[in-house]
Amino acid sequence: MAIKRIGVLTSGGDAPGMNAAIRSVVRSANYFNIEAMGIFRGFAGLINEELKVLDHHSVSNIIGRGGTILKTARCPEFLTSDGQSRAVEIIKKYNIDGLALIGGNGTYGGGIALSKKWNIPCIGIPGTIDNDINGTDSTIGADTAVNTALDAIDKIRDTVTSMERIFVVEVMGRDSGFIALQVALGGGAEDVLIPERKFDMVRMCHDIVEGNIRGKVSWIVIVAEGAGHATDIAKQITDLTSLETRIVVLGHIQRGGAPTAKDRNLASILGTEAVRLLADGQSGKAVGVISDKVTVVDLEFAVTKKETQNEIIYQALKTLT
Ligand code: F6P
Repeated sequence: MAIKRIGVLTSGGDAPGMNAAIRSVVRSANYFNIEAMGIFRGFAGLINEELKVLDHHSVSNIIGRGGTILKTARCPEFLTSDGQSRAVEIIKKYNIDGLALIGGNGTYGGGIALSKKWNIPCIGIPGTIDNDINGTDSTIGADTAVNTALDAIDKIRDTVTSMERIFVVEVMGRDSGFIALQVALGGGAEDVLIPERKFDMVRMCHDIVEGNIRGKVSWIVIVAEGAGHATDIAKQITDLTSLETRIVVLGHIQRGGAPTAKDRNLASILGTEAVRLLADGQSGKAVGVISDKVTVVDLEFAVTKKETQNEIIYQALKTLT
């Protein structure tokens, strides 16, 4: 049966480049003579019947804008069978033949339920700053978030070195140390704490004290939010070294801003691929790019723990400090 109409939504934490992905889905759908419906506020909006047809012009001038014009939400109701059944009712009511789901692990979880349990064709497009989705080297938004955080760390370094202080900088990543590692290495930080790796606080404080004796007085320690709070880490450092510390929590700044070229282009490629798969009658898959080649994996695989280059990055960082 030819697909006539698809729905597109963004769900979970917003990520720069989501708009470029929406634009790509809508325009690719039109290219294949498929109508695209925008679903607002993720699965919550689906349940609440917040939908609108999107045409070529309704996605004009959004490729370079951060956030998501469709808005996004986290939707605990969608985890329940009642919530899903209500969503399926709306999908049928609007004659939607398939869904392009832009988001991270939670969004993909929704796609697994809809495709496997309710037989609704779903294709996942990886949109999250955490870069913790399998089946793609990078997720849409990750590159922008890293560069945003790096820019902030460069500025922090100016004051760190001028006043010879220890700074603890907290970056996003509840379960993922991706941003922390990238900015720690790229920003020349002295140490980094991530959720995936055990950390020896006593060893670090010993290094700080030793460094201090040698005349090294400026330190930047990056902490991923999943590995601890900057305030607690800073207190532990002060307790163990008797040295003064300052903290910065970068927070949601990392989710905003214009997407980098890398994120816009990844989003543009993956939106097209997702629509091509839906038009081809496929379901339960996630699109990505690995080593410059478009890849398609099962949604179930996409949400498994991603192998990262944590150790390589950490070792390089420690060699260079
Ligand atoms: O998943 C993206 C992310 O930014 C995580 O890095 C972070 O832990 C979380 O979302 C924060 O979520 P919220 O905006 O709902 O507080």
